[in-house]
Amino acid sequence: MNALEVNRISVNFGGVKVLYDCSFSVDIGEKRAIIGPNGAGKTTLFNIISGVIKPTGGDIRLFGQEITAYPAHRRAALGLARTFQITNLFPNLTVLENVFMGVQALTPTKYLFYRRTSSCKKMLEDAESQLKDWDIWDKKDQQVRNLSHGEQRQLEIILALSGKPKVVLLDEPTQGLSPAETALVVPMINRIDPSTTILFIEHDMDVAFKIADRISVLYQGRILVEGTESQIRGNREVAEVYLGMGDHHA
Ligand SMILES: Nc1ncnc2c1ncn2[C@@H]1O[C@H](COP(=O)(O)OP(=O)(O)OP(=O)(O)O)[C@@H](O)[C@H]1O
Ligand SMILES: [Mg+2]
Repeated sequence: MNALEVNRISVNFGGVKVLYDCSFSVDIGEKRAIIGPNGAGKTTLFNIISGVIKPTGGDIRLFGQEITAYPAHRRAALGLARTFQITNLFPNLTVLENVFMGVQALTPTKYLFYRRTSSCKKMLEDAESQLKDWDIWDKKDQQVRNLSHGEQRQLEIILALSGKPKVVLLDEPTQGLSPAETALVVPMINRIDPSTTILFIEHDMDVAFKIADRISVLYQGRILVEGTESQIRGNREVAEVYLGMGDHHA
């Protein structure tokens, strides 16, 4: 059984085809990078997998169960979590308060009504225990807007891990980061529990290779090629796509 199966997914926006028959599967515990130029359809693919938008055709399976018709919250309840390309944090709250909000959002409402004070204390303890393992713990009382971009990205990843998901989708966790900040985020992703399946979008091929077991290259809405580092590095079509791209994210 695979953690995730994407089977012949297509989508149109206003008559324009953005994804064409995209198929791939990700093993349990695998780290898979999706790379490809701007506008290739990477975020759209994540939106379809997480249930934010409906595909025109094809199906999605999570641990063998078909989830194509499920709303996003039902997919989340089955263990699927994600981060967004555009930051999704509360800038005026502290680091710890942001994690607290995440824990609260994942706590079933019946526990919130029941003994309010003790459930708050429990959620705060949960939030603290989720932060303690990471470097950002030192900044737990700082407002998020005062963190560096790299620290904000780290916090987003911690929030995505909050509900102990089985599959995590990270949409460009290193986008806009300096090389020094990227050098902090990469080991953090590599420290995530190895049983967690990770699917991440990355522009920089070298960064993708530092994390991924395998890479899928998306180009103009199609999976161009898929493979290990040596297979991707040696692929002529990939070289052509990347030579044509330039440093568009600088
Ligand atoms: N909701 C939408 N309505 C119409 N067109 C859309 C919508 N979302 C995305 N698109 C278009 O679909 C194409 C793929 O967009 P998408 O955001 O998936 O690309 P991407 O690979 O994530 O790019 P980037 O590297 O810039 O993040 C683009 O041409 C984009 O303009
Ligand atoms: Mg994108």
